Parts: sequence; C-alpha cells; structure tokens
Amino acid sequence: MPSLTGLFKSILGICETKPLSPDMWSVEDGKVRVKLDQVPELSQKAGAVYLKGQGLDKPVLVFRTEDDQYLAFVNSCPHGKRKIDPVPGESVLRCCSVGHSKFDYEGNKLSGPGKGSLTRCAVDLSDGDLVVTL
Ligand code: FES
Repeated sequence: MPSLTGLFKSILGICETKPLSPDMWSVEDGKVRVKLDQVPELSQKAGAVYLKGQGLDKPVLVFRTEDDQYLAFVNSCPHGKRKIDPVPGESVLRCCSVGHSKFDYEGNKLSGPGKGSLTRCAVDLSDGDLVVTL
C-alpha cells in the first residue's frame, strides 16, 4: 500500500527525478549537451535528471542505467503528459501520475492506462559531454 505522501505525490504528478541546473547543459542546433563531469547524478548508475527550459519544446529525462548506458526520453507520459522516472532495479520507466504507466527502455508501454509509447532520443558521448539529439 502506498504511503500517504506517495499517494499525494502521484495525484500531483511529482517525480523523484530533479531538474538539472541550466548552467550544466545547453541547447544548440537541435542537440542538448550535458556537462557530465558537473552532474553527480549521472556519475552513478541509476542516476537521473531532467532538463527543462532553454527553448526545449518538452522536458527531457536523462539517466544512467544500472548496466552503464546513458538514455534519454522526452519526459512526457503519452497518457496524460505527466513526467516519468526510471525505476532502479526494474529496468523500466514509470509515470509519476496515479496511473503509473510503465515503459521499457525502448519506450514501449508495458502496463497502465492510455495508448502510445515514450519518445526515445539518440545519445552520444563527445569530449566528455553527453549529447542528446532531439
Ligand atoms: S499520465 Fe501517465 S499514466 Fe496517466
């Protein structure tokens, strides 16, 4: 049974993942560059941040998997546009809303209400930065 705090957060769509300070990333020519050496959350496996603002149409979730890959998704659940969190230990993403839709790392829906999948973004490493193609 979820805690009262957990239920309240779900109703409000509050995620565990926190936004990354804008001075640690930039947007140029449809690509986001994240300064990995300045982001402690991404230096650890299962760490995550999201990017919002700086002209982005939609927030972007960036995280490091437990098997050491960087992944990025448009941070918007296809059911009701709530944000998503990675779920450590389960290799899935979960919507922060009460519907708690779950998705695999390809973005395919595994469970939950609504239709559609998450939009995954290509990622590359370049000169110590993580580059996300929007
Ligand atoms: S908004 Fe994600 S399950 Fe409803």
